[in-house]
Amino acid sequence: SGRSIPKEKGLDHTLALLKEGYNFIPERRSELQSDIFQTRILGQKAICIAGEEAASVFYDENLFTRKGAAPKRVQKTLFGENAIQTLDGEEHKQRKRMFLSMMTPGRLDELAKITREQWRAKIPEWEQRDEIVLFHEAEEIMCRIACQWAGVPITEVEVKQRAIDFGTMIDTFASVGERYREGKKARSRSEEWIEKIIKQIRAKKLHPLENTAAYIIAWHRDLKGKLLDDRMAAIELINILRPIVAIGRFVTFGALALRDYPEEREKVKDDQGGYSQLFVQEVRRFYPFGPFTGARVREDFTWRDYEFKKGTLVLLDIYGTNHHPDLWEHPEEFRPERFKDWKESPFSFIPQGGGDHYMGHRCAGEWVTVLVMKESLEFLTKEITYDVPTQDLTYEMGRIPALPNSRFIIKNIQQS
Ligand code: HEM
Repeated sequence: SGRSIPKEKGLDHTLALLKEGYNFIPERRSELQSDIFQTRILGQKAICIAGEEAASVFYDENLFTRKGAAPKRVQKTLFGENAIQTLDGEEHKQRKRMFLSMMTPGRLDELAKITREQWRAKIPEWEQRDEIVLFHEAEEIMCRIACQWAGVPITEVEVKQRAIDFGTMIDTFASVGERYREGKKARSRSEEWIEKIIKQIRAKKLHPLENTAAYIIAWHRDLKGKLLDDRMAAIELINILRPIVAIGRFVTFGALALRDYPEEREKVKDDQGGYSQLFVQEVRRFYPFGPFTGARVREDFTWRDYEFKKGTLVLLDIYGTNHHPDLWEHPEEFRPERFKDWKESPFSFIPQGGGDHYMGHRCAGEWVTVLVMKESLEFLTKEITYDVPTQDLTYEMGRIPALPNSRFIIKNIQQS
C-alpha cells in the first residue's frame, strides 16, 4: 500500500473553513508543505488537492463522480437541487450539450450588444445622482442582460427584487443561520417565477426566440426523449440567469483593479493588442470568487503513490491553483501581461473549473463571463468618467464569496 496523505489533526475543521475561507486550503498546504492533505469538514473526511496535475486528475471522469458531492445547503441556495452540477456520465453530457448549444458566436455577439445597451441606458439616471453603489447597480444591470438574452420577460417593477434574489442565492451558499434561510427563500421565489415562465412556454402562451436559453431548456429532451419536468427546467434556466448576475462581482473587482492600478485604466481604455482581454483574465485569476469545487472518488485509485478510497470527498483548490507559485510568477501581483504569451492549459487557470467544457463539469458560462466582463469594463473606462471617494474597499478572505466591504461607491458620473 502507498504513502500516507499528510493529515491535519483534530476532529472537525468546518469552523476553521468558515472563518478562513479562501485561505483554508492554501494555508494548510503551506504548513504541511504538501499540495495534498487530509482534513475533516462537515463531519466527514476530505482530501484537499491543488495544482495543475491535481486538477487534471480531478477532472478525470473515470476517477471521480459528482453524485453526493455538492452539500444540500449549496444546492438549496446556489445550484438548485439535483441539477447539472450533480449529474454524471451520459446524462451529464446530454444536459451539458443543452447548455453549450446556447453559446454560438451569433448569440454571443447579441449578448455583447445587449450588455453595451443596458449599461448605456443607466447613464442619464446616474448623472443625476450624487453617488451610486457599483456592485448593486452591476447586479441589476446583469439581471436585465440575463433576462433579455435568455428570452425571459421581466417587468420594470420586478427587476430590482429579482436581481436581489439572484444576488442573495450567490451570496449565501456558504452562510449559516438567518442568511442561509434568506438564500433558500430567494431561491424558492425565483424557482416559482421561472417555473411559471416554463409552463407558459410549454402552453404556447409565451414564445421566446428559438435560440434563446428559455426556448432551448423548455423544449430540451433527455436521453429517453422526455422533457425536463417543469421545476427542473426552471432550475436549469436559473443556472443561466443567476450566474450572469454573478458576473457583477467580477465587474466590481475589475473596477477595484482599475482604481488600485491607475496605469491599467489607461491600458484598458486604449485596448491596444486586445489588452482588455488580458485584463479580464487577470481579474478572473487574481480576485477570490470560486474557492474550491468538490467530487467523490468513483473507484479506489492511486495517485503519486497516495491511495484514494471509493466515496471519499475530494476538494480541488480553485483559488490556490490560480495563485500557485509553481504555475504563476509573482502570483500575488496583478499583472495582466502574464496572459500575453500564456501557454493555455486547461488545468492551471481554473477560476471557473478546469478540463473540457463538453466532457466534464467545467463552467458552461466561461465565454459569456469573459465577454460580459470585457464589455462592462470597456464601458467603465471608455464611456463614462467617475470619482472613487474614500471608502473601505478591502475585502475579507474569510468571507465566501468575497466582495469589497463598501461595495464600490462612485461619484460625479459623467458620460465621456
Ligand atoms: C459550473 C464558476 C459564470 C453556468 C461552474 C463551476 C465553477 C463556475 C467553479 C464548477 C466547476 C466544477 O465543479 O468542476 C463560475 C464563475 C462565474 C461563472 C466564477 C462568474 C460569474 C457562469 C455563467 C454561466 C455559468 C455566466 C451561464 C451563462 C455554469 C453551469 C455550470 C457551471 C451551467 C455547471 C457545469 C457542469 O456541471 O457541467 N461555474 N461560473 N457560469 N457554470 Fe459557471
